[in-house]
Amino acid sequence: MKSVLDTCTPRESIVKGSFNPEVFTAALMPVIDFYRTGTSTIDEIYTNGESFFRDATYPTEGLTSTITSVFRRISGDGSAPSVYRAETGFGGGKTHMLIGCTHIAARGKELASVTGDILPAQYLPEPHSVHIVGVAGDEIPVRKTKGAQIVPYTLWGEIAYQVGGEDLYKELKEQAEAQEAPGKAFLDKVLGNKKVLIMLDEMAVYATRIDAAQKNGSANLAAFLMSLYGYAKNHTGIAVIITLAGSSDAF
Ligand SMILES: Nc1ncnc2c1ncn2[C@@H]1O[C@H](COP(=O)(O)OP(=O)(O)O)[C@@H](O)[C@H]1O
Ligand SMILES: [Mg+2]
Repeated sequence: MKSVLDTCTPRESIVKGSFNPEVFTAALMPVIDFYRTGTSTIDEIYTNGESFFRDATYPTEGLTSTITSVFRRISGDGSAPSVYRAETGFGGGKTHMLIGCTHIAARGKELASVTGDILPAQYLPEPHSVHIVGVAGDEIPVRKTKGAQIVPYTLWGEIAYQVGGEDLYKELKEQAEAQEAPGKAFLDKVLGNKKVLIMLDEMAVYATRIDAAQKNGSANLAAFLMSLYGYAKNHTGIAVIITLAGSSDAF
């Protein structure tokens, strides 16, 4: 039998000794920010869709089946589930899967040459046709911040801001900033007639944080998630992926 030393070649940065685990950690928001701003603080292997799929992604069964199902849903196939719950321990590949979804939602057909073993080409969307919402539950603000700049501090405000920018946020400000979860009219305004990929990473951490910041914070969060799930279920073109760390962690 061949040993791992014969069959694997370490990455160049490891051989050179320049490997930096901080820029190499898989994180969702820097990838989404890269698509919004064109700049990034993390390794290109995560922000370049071609490198990500070609050099950094092993097509595990969980990854391929979830991604295929998500993009079937977004392409309008009502028989594919609208809500996905990814639950593994830390390091199980949840954020990696969300980064893969981000690249496919953003660039779709442009990535056909590197996504062949992950999803059938017919489900690749047209480039730039899908709205991408990504929330890192361990990072987004749970309290109002000072200053003139708009910084959403509710989950629903964050989603509205990411889909429709400042204009939509201002239009919906009252509900976007209320502690009580908004209802269907708000969701219609934000998500109606759109293709939207909503990725909520580390929601158990967020529930703990919002509960510490507000009375009934996690109950309001649960109420919102229920209406979001209900809305997604009745609208093909919308997929919601929520990740929770596995049962073995602190939450
Ligand atoms: N299918 C995969 N192929 C290659 N690398 C992967 C895959 N899934 C996860 N990884 C890598 O493993 C590490 C841990 O995965 P991550 O997505 O951060 O886990 P989690 O979010 O579940 O804690 C990351 O460096 C990630 O890029
Ligand atoms: Mg993660």
